[in-house]
Amino acid sequence: MKKSYSTFGLFSLIIVALITIFLGFLFGMDNPLPWIVLAVLAIIPYMHERKIRREYIDWSDKYMVGIELIDHDHQKLVGLLNQVVSAANFNMGDSYVRSVISEVVDYTKYHFDREEGLMRDNGYPGLEEHQVQHRSMIEQVEKFSKRIEERPNCEDDVCMEIYRFLKSWLINHITHTDKEVGKYLLSKGQH
Ligand SMILES: [Fe+2]
Repeated sequence: MKKSYSTFGLFSLIIVALITIFLGFLFGMDNPLPWIVLAVLAIIPYMHERKIRREYIDWSDKYMVGIELIDHDHQKLVGLLNQVVSAANFNMGDSYVRSVISEVVDYTKYHFDREEGLMRDNGYPGLEEHQVQHRSMIEQVEKFSKRIEERPNCEDDVCMEIYRFLKSWLINHITHTDKEVGKYLLSKGQH
């Protein structure tokens, strides 16, 4: 219920601010207090948007592993994760949240299969170890999906919790484990 509390808190704060502005102006238009509160109220949406924008992942070359199929899938996953941020922060509705999360889960599985297929076909020596990482990631994501079922509309900030976990896992996995795969596949003439 954390999300409901924070929404209620923000709503109460706005009401108090509006009352302060109204009462402040009763004491005259040259009273600085209502003007200050008005300015603070005006920048809240801007600050909120900035905070959300910082959460998004900006795709860049540093995430490229050099193999077209893998880079395509990673880019698609980053796009889906950014949709989770939007879903969690702009109250886009329960069914939208569920559909985005389930697309993330499905696409992650699909991508892992494709990536493992490439490794298998090219005799990648670290395949088993890599598969273990993929499996544990899928297990974690499925646990999160169950939590989503129990908490509609991203209650308890569950969507952002999932997002932050996936973001840090994916970036760490791409920049370390998958980069090694990329190097190996490039040496085998893949592109
Ligand atoms: Fe991988």
